[in-house]
This record gives sequence, structure tokens and C-alpha cells, in this order.
Amino acid sequence: MFQKLLSYILPINIYKQNSALNKSIEITWNKGQLVLDSKNTNYSYGSLQRTLKKGLRLIGFERIKNFETVLVLGVAGGSVIKTIRNEIKCKAHITGVELDKKILEIANRYFKINEIGNLEIVHDDAFEFVFKTKQTYDLIIIDVFQDTVMPNFLFEDFFIERINGLLNLNGFILFNTMVLNDKDQERNNLYRSKFNNQFSLRLYPKIEDHNELFTIKKLF
Ligand SMILES: C[S@@+](CC[C@H](N)C(=O)[O-])C[C@H]1O[C@@H](n2cnc3c(N)ncnc32)[C@H](O)[C@@H]1O
Repeated sequence: MFQKLLSYILPINIYKQNSALNKSIEITWNKGQLVLDSKNTNYSYGSLQRTLKKGLRLIGFERIKNFETVLVLGVAGGSVIKTIRNEIKCKAHITGVELDKKILEIANRYFKINEIGNLEIVHDDAFEFVFKTKQTYDLIIIDVFQDTVMPNFLFEDFFIERINGLLNLNGFILFNTMVLNDKDQERNNLYRSKFNNQFSLRLYPKIEDHNELFTIKKLF
């Protein structure tokens, strides 16, 4: 409690571990809130949670409330899952996929995601998981980063087509990307051009710092 109060004056780090995938994992009290960071970026809670919340608001909280199945690729501390459950009050079955086992341990220990009902956490590679799952989803959140790097598979046709196939009619994809240079911008422009008129795609640049969000709705 003392640490939480003190963190209004200066951030207080309470956990730090190396991670092969994410370089380092840190937990810090910051302005009264516990946040999860990798070496160079915020991973959960803090600005990441605000970014995804803005994306969910653009899709519409009321609409999301009625969704029945949600897939979250990249769980970290589970901040978007808490937004969906606690703020939007959506009761959907949520599947969360996370590759870093250490992050999952932290998510349980510090952020208590194991206490969230109707939530299934899968320890797997997001790419592998989407080709195994037999479910379809009303909302697919793609939030996969290795520190500030986005794995290439996220932008490849094979993955995009599979995700599109897993999306229910009138369902949405929320894709969080980071744009740090011209190459990233080109990559995002190319990604945008891959969706035909079966989808309604919107792009929201500069959501927080370097984040660019896509919302993609399946129309028919
Ligand atoms: C920005 S964090 C996710 C934040 C989370 N969506 C939230 O709302 O708090 C990105 C996560 O993607 C995970 N990740 C990286 N590569 C992955 C992969 N190939 N498959 C699944 N998860 C991966 C990282 O370990 C990290 O936990």
C-alpha cells in the first residue's frame, strides 16, 4: 500500500526478470497503478490498455457487450481482457493466447487473471494456435509484440486469410500496430490494401505515441 502511494511521486519497480522473448519483464507501481513493461515499451495496463480501450470504443462498447466469443492474441498482464469483462461488462467466452510462460505466471500472480470467469488461457504461439482452433469468433484482438518488434507472420497473407476465416459475420478484428519508421508505415499501408470489399477497414493513426490501430469488420 505504501509503495502504491509513493508511486504517485515516483515509479517503484517491484519485479524484474530477463525473458528470451521479451528481453526483460518489469512490474512497476506507477501513479497508483501496477503496470507491466518490456525493456522498451509498456505491455499491459498504462498506455497499452488506453490504446486498446480506444479501439474497443471505436467498435462500440454496446456492440461488444453482445459478443459471445472473443479471441485475444497476446495476453501479457491481461489488461484488455479486464476492460472487456469489467468495464464493458461483456460475458463472452474469451480465449487468450500467450507465448511467454513467464508472462503468464506474472499475469496470475500480480494481475490475478486466473480469477476471471469464462476465460481460457492457452500457452501457445499465436500463429500455431489460429491454425489449430476449431472455434470462430465475434471479436479477434491482435496484440502481439516482442518488445517493440511485431513478428512478420502478422502481416503475411497466410495468417491474414486464416484470421478472416475465423471471424464471424459482423465480427471485428482489432489490430494494434506500432509505427516507428517509414518501413513500418509502408508495411501498414500494404496490410491495408489486402482487404477487399467483404471487409470495412478503418485505420486510426497515432492513438498513443507510436500506435496505429486497425478495426476491420466482416460485412458478408
Ligand atoms: C503488448 S503485450 C499484450 C498486452 C495485452 N493484450 C493486454 O491487454 O494487456 C504483447 C504480448 O505478445 C506476446 N507474444 C509475442 N509473440 C507472441 C506469439 N508469437 N504468440 C503469442 N504471444 C506472443 C508477448 O509475450 C506479450 O505478452
